[in-house]
Amino acid sequence: MLRSVILAAARSSRVERLVETAPYTRDVVRRFVAGSGTDDALRATRELVADGCTVTLDYLGEDTVNPEQAIATREEYLALLRALRDAGLTPAAEVSVKLSALGQKFDEQLAFDNARAICVAADEAGTTVTLDMEDHTTTDSTLDILAKLRKDHPRTGAVLQAYLRRTEADCRDLATAGSRVRLCKGAYREPESVAYQSARDVDRSYVRCMNVLMSGEGYPMLATHDPRLIAIGEDRARWFDRGPGAFEFQMLYGIRPEEQARLVAAGFTVRTYVPYGDQWYGYLMRRLAERPANLAFFGRALLSR
Ligand code: FDA
Repeated sequence: MLRSVILAAARSSRVERLVETAPYTRDVVRRFVAGSGTDDALRATRELVADGCTVTLDYLGEDTVNPEQAIATREEYLALLRALRDAGLTPAAEVSVKLSALGQKFDEQLAFDNARAICVAADEAGTTVTLDMEDHTTTDSTLDILAKLRKDHPRTGAVLQAYLRRTEADCRDLATAGSRVRLCKGAYREPESVAYQSARDVDRSYVRCMNVLMSGEGYPMLATHDPRLIAIGEDRARWFDRGPGAFEFQMLYGIRPEEQARLVAAGFTVRTYVPYGDQWYGYLMRRLAERPANLAFFGRALLSR
């Protein structure tokens, strides 16, 4: 219930203005977002790489409404990839891209062209691109664009969301050689017709999808902070004989950093998803919805002044 309310607020521009102008919002944002500019992204990447992690960088923004914004987002990614290469941070760092930030909602061809330009720049920098997955109305379009991108850029990856009923079948389609799939639970408010609603059903679906990916021929990227699912991932890695270069764990910046360090120390490949930029509102609200305790954190930050 609370999750639904927060996710509804994530789409409200009135609540967005209220949250953005609240005096101590920035303190909360800083926990989940590396900063506003490329320099902040590079600094966070350097620190994580020094700690033994790999990184995927997300320039925050979604639901772009005009071509100018979409092109500005593309240009930011091109500049970021050049900066990562010049700083010697590739291939340890790659980028994650939301197609809605590149124009998907109003011009799919433009989104594809922008994503292709980012894939070309990633190739030049010696690294990869992963397409984030947004709400279920975009899944078919995102997977179509993925298939087209993979013709010239076969290492382009995508996210699949275990809460969608279709995802086990999508995992089967994508568990092929060279295919990179990031499996997460799913962070949007979705209707029962397309998505499992209970945590238990989502977790069970996650395990079924993980089994398909870990037993397949692709490169699974297990994106979760859930201790039980991480333990099952470790078990499947042993069972299917997947070493550090054959799959990876992924977690979000600022969430369970001690667990990220534990997995690195245990010899696993761990990738931290690092968001940066000024358009943090939708991202922050999804993090708050995942864990109501974060609201208390928000409240404490406001009250402690
Ligand atoms: P769950 O939410 O059950 O959390 C398990 C435990 O992890 C909690 O008990 C808590 O300890 C900790 N935790 C989880 N979330 C927390 C939070 N916000 N703050 C503090 N602690 C927290 N979703 C999507 O729809 N499309 C996408 O493209 C992506 N991309 C993506 C990339 C990566 C690398 C990750 C890790 C996640 C995503 N997600 C996503 C988000 C994902 O769908 C999901 O909402 C979150 O990962 C939370 O689910 P968990 O699997 O962590 O389990």
